[in-house]
Amino acid sequence: MQRFQVTAQAGNYPVMIGRGAWRELRPLPQSSYSSVFVLTEKGIWQHWGKRFMREAALRKACPIFVPPGEKSKSLAEVERVASELARAGGDRRSLLILFGGGVIGDLGGLVASTYMRGIDCIQVPTTLVGQVDSSIGGKNAVNLPAGKNLVGTFYPPRMVLADPAVLSTLSPRIFRSGLYEVIKHAILAGPALFDLLDRHLDSLRPDNLKALEAILGPVVRVKIDVVNRDERESGLRQVLNLGHTFGHALEAATGYGRFLHGECVGWGLLAITILAEQLGYLNAAASTPKKGVPDSRRIRDLVWRVGPLPSIRNIPARAIVKLLLHDKKAVAGKIHWVIPERLGKMRIVTGIPLAAAERAWRDLRGMSNPR
Ligand SMILES: NC(=O)c1ccc[n+]([C@@H]2O[C@H](COP(=O)([O-])OP(=O)(O)OC[C@H]3O[C@@H](n4cnc5c(N)ncnc54)[C@H](O)[C@@H]3O)[C@@H](O)[C@H]2O)c1
Ligand SMILES: [Zn+2]
Repeated sequence: MQRFQVTAQAGNYPVMIGRGAWRELRPLPQSSYSSVFVLTEKGIWQHWGKRFMREAALRKACPIFVPPGEKSKSLAEVERVASELARAGGDRRSLLILFGGGVIGDLGGLVASTYMRGIDCIQVPTTLVGQVDSSIGGKNAVNLPAGKNLVGTFYPPRMVLADPAVLSTLSPRIFRSGLYEVIKHAILAGPALFDLLDRHLDSLRPDNLKALEAILGPVVRVKIDVVNRDERESGLRQVLNLGHTFGHALEAATGYGRFLHGECVGWGLLAITILAEQLGYLNAAASTPKKGVPDSRRIRDLVWRVGPLPSIRNIPARAIVKLLLHDKKAVAGKIHWVIPERLGKMRIVTGIPLAAAERAWRDLRGMSNPR
């Protein structure tokens, strides 16, 4: 088990990652809560509910079910869940456990931060995206028709408990979608973690607990280090959006349902790498020790190696460019691009001509997975 500490304005909280993490709920003084609710999905709860209740030694918890999928990240769903809490007697001293992937975490975090002006919540991520990314950092949000993650708050959980054993029931596609966020963290971290991931990528499978335990700690640490230095995204935290400017545009272009979030990040990483190369930011230099192979090639190769991504053949560059401007990371209409200069070094760049972004996407569409 690995333990980390996130420092947040509203109070620090621990992140426990490893086999048996759910047991860390046992010392929780359950009697200090008037009631315990678990926000989850029926499918996840059927698989894992009994084991979670047993390992966490929870005496009583009332599950609240949310339909699976990105569409559940809506204000309508916030209202429905809050109403269910109210109907079931939830009060200021209730605890909300967020037991699911990034959708449950984002929706539930917003509910917890606003229900009766804020109740305690605990993140128990059950997807790879959830375990390495969305459950950490206290950001939550739901989507509006106008764009993704447009309504949300910063609201730290009391703790994050990530047991990689729960990943064993993920479909290969959903698991792969998390690997793109893992690669993103490795690009941010630098050559050491990137090399480690490069060596172990093929052994990362939903049921390979040993391999997962070995890689999750260092990957999670990347996000925690960034968040600890910049909780409110005043600067440094922006780097976590690597690949997400294109990624969010693709998510919008495909109606938030056809592609998984992580898959859009996978395409986004490829697109930003091509853009960075074409604009001369990411030059042919190679970070050691894989001498001779430029970082741009290594990033692209690693993303392709994860496996098949759903095709973007019918997503025209025009459509993507139009949607880029709607990203909430745009400030006063300016897109803040996170540009990789080499492994471990990002630069925030504004003023990149949209024509350049359009060309990068067009070139990407023309490529096929070389593997
Ligand atoms: N707040 C943040 O900082 C942050 C960071 C990254 C991503 N996100 C958000 O996270 C969301 C994506 O998260 P996600 O990829 O986890 O998606 P998700 O929550 O939709 O989960 C993906 C699928 O996995 C299924 N599932 C979950 N756990 C399972 C299990 N253990 N076994 C079998 N199936 C399981 C779900 O039913 C769902 O169909 C996006 O909305 C994204 O914007 C937020
Ligand atoms: Zn993401």
